[in-house]
Amino acid sequence: MRWIIGNWKMNGTRAEARQRTRELLRALPPLPEGLHVAVCPPYTSLGATAEVLTPPLELGAQDVSWQDSGAFTGEVSAPMLRDAGCGLCVVGHSERRQLLGESDGMVAQKLRALWRHGLLPVLCVGETLAEREQGRTEEVLRMQLLAALEGSSPADLLVAYEPVWAIGTGRPAHAADSARGLGVLRQALDAVWGADGAGVPCLYGGSVSAANCAPFWTEGRADGALLGGASLDAQAFAAIVRSAAEVRP
Ligand code: PGA
Repeated sequence: MRWIIGNWKMNGTRAEARQRTRELLRALPPLPEGLHVAVCPPYTSLGATAEVLTPPLELGAQDVSWQDSGAFTGEVSAPMLRDAGCGLCVVGHSERRQLLGESDGMVAQKLRALWRHGLLPVLCVGETLAEREQGRTEEVLRMQLLAALEGSSPADLLVAYEPVWAIGTGRPAHAADSARGLGVLRQALDAVWGADGAGVPCLYGGSVSAANCAPFWTEGRADGALLGGASLDAQAFAAIVRSAAEVRP
């Protein structure tokens, strides 16, 4: 299974979300078997997006609470995301880990909340520039993945390798970096979940654009991509999906 997922981050009004969704639906190519496409609007635009979204486009969220309900001001729970029409949810994005103090323990609990309610988690992991320069990339990726999955049983999951230094910088990793990082993550998945780990799609994310995406599907060994900036432009998003659709895995 392959996925192209757009994370709109903290951008746009409800009207813009409707407009972008309609434009994306018009621009998307027919999807080959096994290729999925989803958008993750901000919470405030989930409803507006759901109003106009039709198959094959799927709806996701950018974050979730690890609790199901209660006195957690500002949080949104997995049952609420289900109710809003979401089928998937990003977890552990580096912007949340770095700017909002999200720890490995919180990420692990959020994964479990999503699984409890039948949502597909998109688990993000990635090293910072400093960690990369210290030669710690493999260790960081392995640690983040193992911490998130410790004690879990195999379940539906997507993993996104997102080098922090490549996010929002316009400087994506090389396809070889993607292949290396995804190789480490696939090995770690095998170590925790055995044969079931092999079925987990592993995506690349970080400054993916219509112009640079193609090598990620081949040399980069990515089962798709998590898009930030490019997903705000429906034509660029659709061009990336078209590129993935042309590759036979
Ligand atoms: P970017 O964001 O494509 O804008 O680099 C990627 C991400 O944060 O997932």
